[in-house]
Amino acid sequence: MEKQVKISSKLQKAREYEKCALKKGTAAPKQDFHACVPVGWMNDPNGFSEYNGEKHLFFQYHPYNTAWGPMHWGHMKTTDFIHWENMPVALAPDKKYDGFGCFSGGAIEWKGRHVLAYTGVERRKEEDGQCKDYQMQCIAVGDGVNYEKIKENPVITGDKIPEGDSAFDFRDPKIWVDGDIIYMVVGNRSKDGSGQILLYKTLDLKNWEFVTVLDKCNNRYGKMWECPDFFRLEGEDILIVSPQEMEARELEFHAGDGTIYILGSFEKEKAVFTEKVIRALDMGLDFYAPQTMLTSDGRRIMIAWLQAWCASWFDERDGFCGMMTLPRELHIKNGILCQNPVRELESYYQNKVELKEFVPGETYQKYDELSGRVQNLDITLDGEESYQFEIQLAADDVHYTAIKYDKKEQMLTFDRSNSGVRRDAAHVRSMRILSNDRIVKLRIVMDRYSIELFVNGGEQAMTSVIRTPIKSNGVCMRTQGNVKVSVIKHDICLL
Ligand code: FRU
Repeated sequence: MEKQVKISSKLQKAREYEKCALKKGTAAPKQDFHACVPVGWMNDPNGFSEYNGEKHLFFQYHPYNTAWGPMHWGHMKTTDFIHWENMPVALAPDKKYDGFGCFSGGAIEWKGRHVLAYTGVERRKEEDGQCKDYQMQCIAVGDGVNYEKIKENPVITGDKIPEGDSAFDFRDPKIWVDGDIIYMVVGNRSKDGSGQILLYKTLDLKNWEFVTVLDKCNNRYGKMWECPDFFRLEGEDILIVSPQEMEARELEFHAGDGTIYILGSFEKEKAVFTEKVIRALDMGLDFYAPQTMLTSDGRRIMIAWLQAWCASWFDERDGFCGMMTLPRELHIKNGILCQNPVRELESYYQNKVELKEFVPGETYQKYDELSGRVQNLDITLDGEESYQFEIQLAADDVHYTAIKYDKKEQMLTFDRSNSGVRRDAAHVRSMRILSNDRIVKLRIVMDRYSIELFVNGGEQAMTSVIRTPIKSNGVCMRTQGNVKVSVIKHDICLL
């Protein structure tokens, strides 16, 4: 007989609060087809995994408030990565070792159970009166609804990290199964003040062995490395990390919290990872802490937090703050990690509009047949040498978000300065595109408050929030120079 999982009063309280809040609804409408926090605050995706044939997404969750607070794990399920079903809160910070928060982590299916690995944060008062937050890795096991923290927790503490490295920046376990072994990568801060990724293994979830330092930042890419993920894809080994305190490097990396992928090769027997290529994963304004899962049909799918730590675009007046990117299928093409929206999105396409090989003028022209805020635009630019293309989205008389492409400079710019934002933060990002062939392809996926831009079959991406009034739905274009534009537009309709 299944053992009854004991629900702590803290978890019960969060579940009840969420239920009541959901009945009331939020003041602002949420995204249409992106995973969105039910109420309160959401950050990183956690435990993105398949269990019992269903796809689960957990997330960093503070239901009581639209600001970050004591971290719970919220929970939702999906069959197609487009519809999201809310589930009862999965974890609350209800133990001594995680009383300050159940921080990010991953999940696997193991021996018929759904296993969550997370970071327990315990705030301890030291002898000198100072408070320190110890970070430790913990396990909870469940059935897809209720999860029990195992009695051996915390299973990895500061005594299993290399001598002198930080027990206070030691977080975000991602786990996977390889034969009989369960592996874990965890972010950590080393003696040099910058990040490193530690690799552990176990046969039983309880006894974990330190394997190696998989990779080190050596102060090259930011400082602390958060939310690691490590997987093999089409013959390459890929490490994804979210570095804090990045320095901008021309247009290759932007300043602040970033996300990078390190394409390399991993010799399992020697446990040695060799870096080959390092690139930004998404150059948009709102993309952080991505996590991947492997579906039973063999696809590696990535989802990320559609926000950045430096600015929130929602608050108490909206009743929620937090959403995820559209899940993206990952592939390797010519040594580039490509990301494209899950193919399931296309089953929700409606009202196709196609404009073939036209030349927009040098002043802005409105294309009424392309209007919309919840839609997919596939744009093909066909032109040689030098031209400029500019599209305005979510436009009305005063608002717009612009995407500009300068062929000669190979420069793609996203600019939401006029999108209705009311805060002085970064609103413009540019990147140099990797393949500047005669045909340049832009795919734009819009939901009510987001624009996700994929370039040339997903070789590069830019993801950002817009807070433009929903009724501003115009699309305008202009070009300079010799270029033909083709556009295919589909509305995305969930009902
Ligand atoms: C990343 C992060 C993680 C941490 C979590 C806390 O966004 O800082 O490192 O586990 O958020 O909510």
